[in-house]
Order: sequence, then structure tokens, then C-alpha cells
Amino acid sequence: MTTEQTIDTLFLEERRYPPSAEFAAQANATSAIYEEDFESFWARNASERVSWFEPFSTLYEWEPPYTKWFLGGKLNVSYNCVDRHVEHGRGAKVAFHWEGEPDGDLRAITYEDLQHEVVAFANTLKELGVEKGTPVAIYMGMVPELPIAMLACTRLGAPHTVVFGGFSADSLSDRMNDMGCEVLVTQDEAWRRGTTVPLKRIADDAMSDAPGVKTCIVVRRTGNDVPMAEGRDHWYHDVRGSDDPASCPPEPMDAEDLLFLMYTSGTTAKPKGIAHTTGGYLVGAAATHYYVFDLKPDADVYWCAADVGWITGHSYIVYGPLCNGATSVMYEGTPDYPDKDRWWSIIERYGVTILYTAPTAIRSHMKWGPEHAAKHDLTSLRLLGSVGEPINPEAWVWYHENIGGERCPIVDTWWQTETGMILITPLPGVTTTKPGSATQPFPGVDAAVFSESGDEVGPGGGGYLVLKRPWPAMLRGIFGDDARYRETYWSKYDGVYFAGDGARVDEDGDFWLLGRVDDVMNVSGHRISTIEVESALVDHPEVAEAAVAARNDATTGQAIVAFVTLKGGADGSVAKLEELRNHVAQKIGPIAKPANIVFTPELPKTRSGKIMRRLLRDVAENRPLGDTTTLADPTVVEEIRDRGQAEAGKED
Ligand code: WT7
Repeated sequence: MTTEQTIDTLFLEERRYPPSAEFAAQANATSAIYEEDFESFWARNASERVSWFEPFSTLYEWEPPYTKWFLGGKLNVSYNCVDRHVEHGRGAKVAFHWEGEPDGDLRAITYEDLQHEVVAFANTLKELGVEKGTPVAIYMGMVPELPIAMLACTRLGAPHTVVFGGFSADSLSDRMNDMGCEVLVTQDEAWRRGTTVPLKRIADDAMSDAPGVKTCIVVRRTGNDVPMAEGRDHWYHDVRGSDDPASCPPEPMDAEDLLFLMYTSGTTAKPKGIAHTTGGYLVGAAATHYYVFDLKPDADVYWCAADVGWITGHSYIVYGPLCNGATSVMYEGTPDYPDKDRWWSIIERYGVTILYTAPTAIRSHMKWGPEHAAKHDLTSLRLLGSVGEPINPEAWVWYHENIGGERCPIVDTWWQTETGMILITPLPGVTTTKPGSATQPFPGVDAAVFSESGDEVGPGGGGYLVLKRPWPAMLRGIFGDDARYRETYWSKYDGVYFAGDGARVDEDGDFWLLGRVDDVMNVSGHRISTIEVESALVDHPEVAEAAVAARNDATTGQAIVAFVTLKGGADGSVAKLEELRNHVAQKIGPIAKPANIVFTPELPKTRSGKIMRRLLRDVAENRPLGDTTTLADPTVVEEIRDRGQAEAGKED
């Protein structure tokens, strides 16, 4: 068949949620900001959201595929995130309400406390030899010393790489070796679901393969004994430096100095060190945080429930919120420890007004049932956010009703490690939202959907998401690998950033993300996106979560195999299987009907919660499993494979 479309779109979601008049009347964003000229929008945000030691002389430079922003400007991130709030008389305001996983483990950290902690940590790093430009690795759980260590690095101008505390020794040593880290900051152990994760021991294994690391600073968290190597390892409490701010002034940095690397896995095993620089990243993170979350620094209690070890945590727990002087919640543990209502008790305790989380978490809460949230007063909430994957419309509506009490706008925010900041999103108070759509490019962002051959696909059509103009927090490259940078993002279309996601734009110009392009399935010549079939399955009242993958089929080219988790962990039957197939047929058409359905209590996910469809393809094809090292729980996929084989007879 011939089609203008590169990906067919089948799922039509018709529910609409216009902003309320009350929300609109108080919102930080008005529709006027979409009218603002690109250059004046970013110049205005650079001066309104960030303080500069020296003003920039040129807004930006664009020599594809590299961009520079705020050229000539000098600033310091820790000064912007901490000191200036204290100077402006807001030192007594809480920066973080930190809650540990063990019961009653609470700390309120004001901006003034944070200033002392950051200065003490920076002095410690300095005394141990860290200076401007020294690469520092940080491998920690969700303890206050994690953002403190990051800010301490930025104070000195030392670029950091934070490695998520769930990663293995190999992942940590690979990253430290790639960046050339000389110093590692870690902690004795982390608390997780009532047990401990031996971070220092894992770090020891990593350091044995990373000989460049000469110094390790260990923060005490659980207090259990861990091995300490003489001369290399230092307890933080033994070497803690002076906390007098005058003893450690923030280093003036060039806007384009490297701020951090965040490693993200690509198609090959070697992770890519995504480079973010100082000025553009901070302006981008702060401006989007202010408008997208409608932040009122003096009234809101903001909670991004991600881990600081991912880009979401960097931009929207640490740098964006602190730059804006927000009061945030930071939680150490898992959502179901000791009970499945832990999150909702946190929201009630601190009066959280803004919650930002991921579809995978929302679907877990859906699976556990709404009764856990119903036990708590969630009326403080006024805005909800989602990030990380396309959100299934049913999960969106569940979130809206059961968590948001039908009064909170939901911002479904599309972005990437590479983009540094949110790029496609509703603006609360302005945008009419649609469950499953990330809606509009943020002001100044030029997004489009291209066909395979590089033509812009019109309304209704599916294709590849691209960005046609740079933005301040855009990656500045892959650390040490210019060729891979050009190949990954810039080789498909000339001078246009290829995001690797499928998308379609509807008649209102709203964007619907269709998942990673590698996951698109081809059934009888129709290019079908995974998210649409998954959303049709999740639309069934008994389905909590679904993932689909394609296997080869002699007749149709590919056939769809669905992996389904029922609510409350119920078991599937042959009758249920037929019912779900028919539900998909009725919702989006017979072409998208799964050929097989495998019922499973869990889906294989990465440690950041994304479904790993690549492994499901291996299961669907009955092939040996590919690389499972990035899975959060490798046993899940084994179990699915066993179930898949047991179900093979049910196929038609
Ligand atoms: C990929 C980037 C950005 C922070 C967390 C993930 C997917 C992200 C959405 C969304 C549909 C989304 C995309 C993107 N994604 N947000 N709102 N709707 N898809 O960062 O690990 O770099 O992943 O996550 O596929 O390319 P990341």
C-alpha cells in the first residue's frame, strides 16, 4: 500500500479538558508567551530567572549540529540555586522537605542550611584536590547530600556525572572511565524497601576497574560498617570543610563551560555521555520549571518523585526548582514501602501542591487500586505532571480523577536526556489538554513531524519527531564522540534534530507521541505504533498495564503479541484473551488486534521505568534474550518467556 504517512494512526481520543477560569486567572503563563519572539523570549527568561556575574553579549550561535548560548555571560549555578536566595532574605525558607524511607526519618533543609552544606562540601572537595574542571562522579541514593554534592561541584566549576544508585559496578566504572573521573562521592549504603543497598561495596568494585579515581568521599547513611581503603577513601564527617560562605566564593563560570554529563544508553552497549553546559541549561531548566509547573515559590510545595540520578531529577528536582527558589519534597524510598499509600501520606503531610511523576508509577498505583490514595487528604494538590513515556489515556484519566480530584490540570511533558528541558507540554491555565497528548511545543521550540523522506507530515499523519531550531538546554554533544553525535541525531535529516520518537500532529496542532521509532510494528503494510495498541488494551476496565511487540508472521509480515497485566494481579483466561482482542478491534480496528496475548504480573522495565519492548520482541519471536543488564528485575522477563511458551497454543 502507498501512504503519505510514515506511521499510521488509529487511536482517536476525544476527551477534552479546558483550563478552569480560576487556574487561568492566576497562571504564570498566558497565551501571550506563544506570541513572543524566540530571541526576546529567551533573552527575557535569561535575565528574569538567572543572575549573571557578567551579562552575555550574544544570545546564541547555531552552527549545526552545535549550538552555543549566552555567549560571553558569566554565572555560577550554586550561586543561582542557593546564595542569591539567602541574600534576598529568603534563607529561612525550606528548600527540601527530605523524607527518608525508615519511619520518622525527616529533615527540613532551609536555603540557609543548604548554603552552609554546599559550602562545607565544596571546601571538602577543594581540600581533596578538586578544582575548576576536575571531573567528579557521584553514586548515591536519594539523600540530601546528593544535591549538596552536585551543587558543591558547580560551586567550584567541577563537572559532575551522577550515576543512578541502582546501577552496577560495571556501569559505574564505564562512566567514570569515559569521563576521566578523579574523585567519587558515594555513601556507605542506601535504604531501599526496608533493606540496604551496598553502594560503597559496589563502588569499590567499580574503582578497581577505574584506576583514575584517586579519592573517594563516603557519606554515612545507614551507619553499617563498610571497607575503607587507606589514603583513597575518606568519611565525609571526618574531612568536612568549613561551612563559612566567605571561605568558598562561587567560581564565575563561562556560560558554555561543561556543567555535567548524564550517560544514557543507546543501541550499542557503550552509554553516551550527554554534555550539558552552564548558562543555557540553567535558563532552560528554570524557565520551563516556572511556566510548566506554574511555580509560585512562596506558596507551592513541589514534588518531583523521580530519582536525582536521571535527567528528570537533575532538571526538575535540583537545578530548575532551586534556581526558582522553590520548596520541594525529596523522598528516599519506594512508593510501596511500608505500604502502598506511602506517596499519598507524604502529599498529605507536607501539603504538596504540585506532583510530577511517570506513567509507569501511575500504572502501578492503578494496579494497586485507588483505595490507597483515598485514605489521604490530597486536596492540597493543584497541578499534576507526567514524564518518561507516552501516557495511556486511561492512566491519564485515572490520575486526573483519583489523585487530582478532577480539579488539577495535568501537564504531559515530552523531553529527553539530550534536550535537558521540557520541549513539548501543555501550559497550565492556557492549554486545553487531551489525555495522551503532550500538546504544544514550549514557546520558542520549533517541533515538527517528518516523513521518512523529510517532508513535513500534515495534520493527522504519523511520522518522526524533529526539532528544527536549537534551544538553550540542548545537548552540546556526546562527550568525546563527535562522530556518534552527528550519526545519532543529525544524519537522518540535514540540520534538523532527530529525536528517535514517532509522533503525529492533530488538527489543532497538538502532538501525540507514539513511542520510539525502533518499536514501530508493520502489520500487513500498516505501520502501527506500540502506544496506540497498548492504550486500547489499558482502556479495558480490567487491564492495568500492557506492552506490545511484533513477531514475524508468514501472512501479515509482522503480528502483534501483547503482554498484559490485569488489575489486582488477576489471572487471565482464554475468554478474557478473546475479550481483550475484541476490545482492541473495536477501539482501533481489526488490523491492530493482537495475535497472541500473554498475561503476566509484571512487565520488563529499565531501571528508569520504561518498558523494554526489545526484550518482548525476543520473547515474541522465541529467540534467546538480548542484553538484559539494564533491566530493573531480570527475573521478570524469564517468567514472561515461560508464560509465553505456555500460551503458544492459544494463538489463532
Ligand atoms: C524518551 C527520553 C525526559 C526525562 C525522562 C526520560 C520518552 C519522555 C515523554 C512523554 C511520550 C516520552 C520518549 C523520549 N518520553 N517523555 N511525555 N510522552 N514519550 O528521559 O531517558 O532520555 O528518555 O522518553 O521516547 O525520547 P530519557
